[in-house]
Amino acid sequence: MCGIVGYIGHREAYPIILKGLKRLEYRGYDSAGIALYDGTDIKLSKTKGKVEDLEDKIKKEITTDGTLGIGHTRWATHGVPNDVNSHPHYSNSGNLVIIHNGIIENYEPLKQELESRGYIFHSDTDTEVLVNLIEDIKKNDDIKLGKAVQIALNQVIGAYAIAVFDKSKPNEIVVARLGSPLAIGIGDDEFFIASDASPFIEYTKNAIYLEDEEMAVVRRHRGVSIRKIHDDSLVNPYIQELQLHLEQIEKGGYDHFMLKEIYEQAHAISDTFRGRLLTDKAIIKMGGVEDNMKKFLNADRILIVACGTSWHAGLVAEYIFEDLARIPVEVEYASEFRYRNPVITENDLVIAISQSGETADTLAAIKLAKSRGAFVFGVCNVVGSSIARETHAGAYTHAGPEIGVASTKAFTTQITILTLIALRLARAKGTISSSDYRHHLFELEMIPEKVNQALESDYMVKQIAEVYKNAKNFLYLGRGYNFPVALEGALKLKEISYIHAEGYPAAEMKHGPIALIDEDMPTVVIAPRKGHYDKIVSNIQEIKSRKGVIIGIVTKGDVTVRELADHVIEIPETLDCLSPLLTTIPLQLLSYHIAVMLGKNVDQPRNLAKSVTVE
Ligand code: F6R
Repeated sequence: MCGIVGYIGHREAYPIILKGLKRLEYRGYDSAGIALYDGTDIKLSKTKGKVEDLEDKIKKEITTDGTLGIGHTRWATHGVPNDVNSHPHYSNSGNLVIIHNGIIENYEPLKQELESRGYIFHSDTDTEVLVNLIEDIKKNDDIKLGKAVQIALNQVIGAYAIAVFDKSKPNEIVVARLGSPLAIGIGDDEFFIASDASPFIEYTKNAIYLEDEEMAVVRRHRGVSIRKIHDDSLVNPYIQELQLHLEQIEKGGYDHFMLKEIYEQAHAISDTFRGRLLTDKAIIKMGGVEDNMKKFLNADRILIVACGTSWHAGLVAEYIFEDLARIPVEVEYASEFRYRNPVITENDLVIAISQSGETADTLAAIKLAKSRGAFVFGVCNVVGSSIARETHAGAYTHAGPEIGVASTKAFTTQITILTLIALRLARAKGTISSSDYRHHLFELEMIPEKVNQALESDYMVKQIAEVYKNAKNFLYLGRGYNFPVALEGALKLKEISYIHAEGYPAAEMKHGPIALIDEDMPTVVIAPRKGHYDKIVSNIQEIKSRKGVIIGIVTKGDVTVRELADHVIEIPETLDCLSPLLTTIPLQLLSYHIAVMLGKNVDQPRNLAKSVTVE
């Protein structure tokens, strides 16, 4: 949940680290800090707040010379976000300095032990315990920093990506990972360390992604040596060529990443199709599915595990798998699944959905399912992420980097992948006729163009946002395939505008939420022509007869809902099962415009972080 950056080489470290932290702020933005080695001493500055607050503070506080440094942007787990709890943290001697992403679960007994030996702690963090543990080991055994880090990490329980350096040996940074990502960029006689490759993409295309339980000593002029933390074996570094491009991680003229990502969806969905949807040959080709077709076809049921928006994509998939491929599906919050004692057998096939591929609860659910013998298939966006590696097989969404904290293109591309899988299985099982199958492929291929048409509603959505931006509550209703879209629309509004919103199956409204209806609460009703249209029209009438306000999401040319609703937003016509890919678009725009009008920080909503790597 935190972002870490480090540099050692021949350039000034400060601008690289500062820019890197700005790129990693999506991972957490409660506080930030930097430590630089200026040739004689460590210069450290940290503050509660965002990286721009840190930048202001640094101007007043420290000089920024030096070719070695580390930086951190934090999403608080231990201790409130304040200056003292911010990273980096010094050891008691002031010689060592550390940054950490993750949690040390057994920090209490370690802290007590260190306190009994005279160590003093200034913060409430687990990280300060770790750096002093390393110092204690290094001092007592008179050993090198790398060895001390290794011994310390063998004593801790938890998750970490760390970077630490010693001012008395300022030619190396020691890094390690378990459960939190860590990449090392290999430049020309310079090295970069970061939670992902975005901080160093303009300097090098070569990177090593540390695996879990690996640590590395990164030495100036000498390179990187990697070993296993627990058994001390040496690891041959695998240098990957990065596919990331600078323009993918910049706003490209948009005011916010979220808006850019909403507008990128047609392109992102086309990228998801690439090489997989071959409409002219009536083929869907997905390596991970083909190679494991028997597992898919013989599964008694499919269990989907995910969190948040990815869970909503899983709900859409439940409808489509059952509808087209006639396979029973259950969708579980990964966070609940892992803490009960679920019935899972070898005959279950588990699909784990995650944009980041790092969500701790989803990762734990996967491990649980694997331990009970289930085959686990991953749907991830981030290539090489922990979930992608932990699953038996999978398919990447190829949506490109999603930086806005509120998920948008990840959702539509996840639905796209899951639709491709459902159609492929339906074809293999014979639960869809050949002509229907071709029709679905044809309609699917039209989706990117229709997404762009749906985006043309932006101007109208903005006008509606202006009218309702001060509403205290919103209700979102949908039926069938669009019930999960109602949940997703409500989640988007809540998380970036802080307006209370509820998503509900439209027919359930009369079992309770209808009591909330009055002229002050807008109800967004997703009412495309295909799919329970008459029923949803009745629901709209029920709301209107109680003086409710209706914003209808309708198919182009709709007349009936237009007559009843206060506002309508049109989307192009498509198949019922593909409609979530279009109905979602105006809901994303509505939440975006309301949040902007209320002056909220759209890309970095309060209390949130992009990848939730804590339980
Ligand atoms: C909402 C949002 C979150 C994530 C959830 C799962 O906009 O972004 O609800 O969907 O934290 O994250 P991933 O998909 O990375 O596992």
